[in-house]
This record gives sequence, structure tokens and C-alpha cells, in this order.
Amino acid sequence: MTSLPDLIKPIPYRENISFSKLTTLGVGGQCKLLFEPVDEGQARSLVKTFIREGWSYRILGGGSNLVVLSDIDEPVIRLNFKKELKVRGREITAPANYGHIRLSQEVALQGLSGMEYASGIPGTTGGALHMNAGAYGRELVQILSRYRYINPEGDVIDAVPDSSNFGYRWSHLGSGYVALNFTVCLTPGDTKSIQAEVESNLHKRGSSQPLSKRNAGCIFKNPEGHSAGRLIDQAGLKGYRVGDAEVSSEHANFLINHGKATAQEFYDLMIQVQSKVQSRYGITLEPEVEVWGNIN
Ligand code: EPU
Repeated sequence: MTSLPDLIKPIPYRENISFSKLTTLGVGGQCKLLFEPVDEGQARSLVKTFIREGWSYRILGGGSNLVVLSDIDEPVIRLNFKKELKVRGREITAPANYGHIRLSQEVALQGLSGMEYASGIPGTTGGALHMNAGAYGRELVQILSRYRYINPEGDVIDAVPDSSNFGYRWSHLGSGYVALNFTVCLTPGDTKSIQAEVESNLHKRGSSQPLSKRNAGCIFKNPEGHSAGRLIDQAGLKGYRVGDAEVSSEHANFLINHGKATAQEFYDLMIQVQSKVQSRYGITLEPEVEVWGNIN
């Protein structure tokens, strides 16, 4: 990229930020250009400009479901909108950069039920929309009433969910789409018992997953009818290590970074886990995390 077009120069941006600061896992190279638009207008100007210039771009949420393998030269957009909720009766609208766990706690405080399952799922609401985040058999699309996004043509779209646009850890908001906000419709209930369930889910996750180590959540999707964690565990891989990257001994579908893991080590560990599960069970594990960049 040569120089920045005038239209986007006023939009806050930073150069050469390490992905160890931008992701929970902490591997990968540098983010060459990180744009942090403060409102929808700025986000839309970025997308429109990138389209006009023919530049591809990426969207970063909380960086909690992301494995970066190299430097990323394309511009990256991370929203820095005002973190304010709009409450209208049972409907709550959150900007896409709002913390997902924080949202589940806020709605619980208001005596609204339906987001208890989400209380242990990190990242932003935009990331949750992008991945149709879920846990304990529940997922976002079940409570979603509206959402707003910028499409890869640069148009702002208000949408209502359609089941064909959401699946297991998947939504139609793929590459080039920028989630702006979503509205969930919840059910009034007893504040104390909703809060108790939120706390219990947080605790359950804390006691079965290695949350004190750098991680990117579950690395592989659960194959139809199977649990990726159980398969990796039964293949005897808990504690298997490549350099500073290791299959967690608490939950085998978590690959953790002990602090100094390189992208190469992390990648090798993912490939080895996949190939051992493939040769033992004939099952292909597909990444649940998003993977950016390549190993050279
Ligand atoms: N299991 C093992 N060994 C392990 C891990 C799990 O035998 O090392 C067994 C468990 O005993 C259980 C089964 O596998 O019988 C399923 O395990 P768990 O209840 O931990 O659920 P999971 O399918 O591994 C899913 C989501 C998690 C979410 C939990 C709780 C996926 C890929 N994972 O995990 O989401 O927190 O349910 O609902 O869908 C994530 O999205 O990043 C994530 C971690």
C-alpha cells in the first residue's frame, strides 16, 4: 500500500501492532495497519475506500477466536464505537464491539433471561454474530431479533435473521462483512436466578477449560455426532507439546500458548493433532477458530 487516501486519513489508525497484543492466544506477527473507526460513518468510509482502491481488508473483534500465523499486510478494521446499550423493553441492542460476556451480565442484571448460556463466551458481540456463538446447546440466532452490518459492497443493511443465514458456529457474515450491532429479544424473569445461572456457567467453564493460559477457545469444531475434545483426549494427546504450544490437559480441544509459542509451533501442533485424530478415527477435524496468514 502506498499512501492513505485523503478520505480515510482522519480515521484513527495505528501501525505495526503485534498480534500478541491483539489476540488472546498471542501468536503471529504484526498488524501492519489497524483502523479503529469510532462510528458507522467512519466504518463505512473505510469499506468504500478499500473497495474503490481494490484493497482487501480484515475485521478484528476481540481476537479471542483467532490464530494468526504471519504478518498481516491488509488493513484491519477494529470498531471503537461508544459502548452503549439501547434497552427497549425486552429488546437490547448492543454495538458490535461490546463485550459478549459483559452483555450477558448486563441483561441478567436487568432481569432478562435468554443469554445465560453466553456468560462464558469471550470476544465481542460482533464476533459472536459472525460465528453464531453458542454453548450448552444454545446459540445466538435463537435470541437474535435484528442485526445491522456493512456488506462487501459498502452498503449498510438492516436484517432480520433467517435460519439459512446461520448454522453451527457459522453465519453468512463472512469475509468483507462488518457487523455493526445486533438486537436480542429476551424474556423477563427472576433477576436472582438468572444471575445465578450466569455465575454457574462462568464457573463451569472456568473449571473445565484452561482459562488461566493464553488460548483461542476451542480450536476445532465438534464433528457431527462427536466431541473434538473427547477425540483428541482419547487419542492420548493431552499434554502433547510442540515448543511452547501444548494440548491442554484440562480440555483437549484447547491448544494453549505457554507464553513464547511461535506461529510455526502452534501451526505444527494443530496439524499434528488433526493428523493423529484422522489416522486413529478417520475423522477430519476442522478449525473452529479463524486462521489468518500463512506459514512460509
Ligand atoms: N471431553 C473429554 N476430554 C476433554 C474434553 C472434553 O472427554 O479433554 C468430553 C467431556 O467429558 C464431554 C464432551 O467431551 O463429555 C464434551 O465436552 P464439553 O462439555 O467441554 O463441550 P465441548 O463440546 O468440548 C462445547 C463448545 C465450547 C463450549 C462448551 C460448553 C465447541 C467446539 N465447543 O465444547 O465452546 O464452551 O461446549 O457448552 O462447540 C468455543 O466455542 O471456543 C468453545 C470452547
